[in-house]
Amino acid sequence: MAVEETRIVTKFLRSREKDSWTFEAARKHNKAYSALEKALGMEPATIVEEVQTSGLRGRGGAGFGAGQKWSFLPKDVFPRYLAVNADEGEPSTFKDHMLLERDPHQIIEGVAITAFAIQAHVAFIYIRGEFALGAERVQQAVDDAYANGFLGKNILGSGFDLDVIVHRGAGCYIAGDETGLLSSLEGERAMPRIKPPFPAAQGLYAAPTVVNNVETLSTVPHIIRRGAKWYAGLGVNKSTGTRIFSVSGMVERPGNYEVELGTSFRDLIEGLAGGVRDGKAMKFFIPGGASAPWLMPEHLDEPLDMDRAGELKTMLGSGAIMVFDETVDPLLISWRLAKFFAHESCGKCTPCREGSGWIDKVLYRMVHGLGRPDDLDLLLDFGSSIVPGLNAPFAQTTICALGPSTMSHVVSLDRYFGAEIRERLKRDFAKRAPLEVVSA
Ligand SMILES: Cc1cc2nc3c(=O)[nH]c(=O)nc-3n(C[C@H](O)[C@H](O)[C@H](O)COP(=O)(O)O)c2cc1C
Repeated sequence: MAVEETRIVTKFLRSREKDSWTFEAARKHNKAYSALEKALGMEPATIVEEVQTSGLRGRGGAGFGAGQKWSFLPKDVFPRYLAVNADEGEPSTFKDHMLLERDPHQIIEGVAITAFAIQAHVAFIYIRGEFALGAERVQQAVDDAYANGFLGKNILGSGFDLDVIVHRGAGCYIAGDETGLLSSLEGERAMPRIKPPFPAAQGLYAAPTVVNNVETLSTVPHIIRRGAKWYAGLGVNKSTGTRIFSVSGMVERPGNYEVELGTSFRDLIEGLAGGVRDGKAMKFFIPGGASAPWLMPEHLDEPLDMDRAGELKTMLGSGAIMVFDETVDPLLISWRLAKFFAHESCGKCTPCREGSGWIDKVLYRMVHGLGRPDDLDLLLDFGSSIVPGLNAPFAQTTICALGPSTMSHVVSLDRYFGAEIRERLKRDFAKRAPLEVVSA
């Protein structure tokens, strides 16, 4: 049987390609803000419990329970803030981009419900600088929501006030880390902060703050409208509901696909995305964005389950799957990823600042036939001072998870291609002419 998507968060934007971002279409055809009306009649604590019961986990990368995070806010400290992470900097991830451009009212409704649940009266939507169209449409949607009484003072006569501020970043990967994002919102360089204190205790302007991903918050209205039990009934194990996966690379039909968790990688990659293009065989795939350790064709029948991915020593991360065919040199991909992380390291922690550059340089010489026989072991050796133990789930000597990400692809090279790479290094080394001794 053909595999099908389970469209919840993407249903409306797919059905109204031409105008899904407009207030009129969202109200008329998607019952936009009806979940907010319902939520405003509930107790804030009941909404938090409902989202906890649904099992919804963060869609930004770490997969932390959304309702659980909200419940960590100290009971009696005000003001508190909600920040929406719309930075989406993880290479190959393009789902939030789509939600921002094509269903901004769904996000705003999720923001308003969440702000009410945690009793925040100011929310920020932090959008990656490059998302010009997304920022324009979100700002228009915010303006329309204000004009129609869904934001601002005394929303729908409930007595609840909420201001939403759209903030454009300048486009840097580290601003996606939740504490980097908060620093950037405060007008500082986007550099991560040591945790604890976690943002829930001390976040924006040192006040309790919840940071959630765009897709996470876009799911909230559906849970309120249709109930936590319905949502918890979808998915597999502790990975409930659906997720949007951005499938890219060498597949016939790259794109965003919303599927029930528990669907297999094979159904997603071969079924929905049409499999490896031009009839070639798959060499490997990256299951959760550039930061995630790789998987092999033998893993295709594994389920899209966040905890199972952990057992396979990787993660579903930001929900981005990159597929590489048999013609690809894994060493070249590793070097390309290394260059990205070295470029984006903010420099605050020494192991990441120095290590990411070394990884880039050593991989450069390995790729270009200038490596030394023990270069892979050298990488693993100094890499273990960024990621002690070199094994996912990664321990780290850096403040944020960018540090471990610099080593994910190197660990993957060693895990799946180690023998052939060591052989290649030996061969390349032997081929090079020994240095001539120049005598006087
Ligand atoms: C270097 C780095 C970049 C990140 N980039 C993003 C991002 O672009 N979008 C996002 O939602 N989360 C990103 N995260 C994860 C956030 O720190 C945080 O876990 C997430 O926004 C929480 O939202 P969630 O619980 O709804 O997933 C990043 C983390 C790190 C370490």
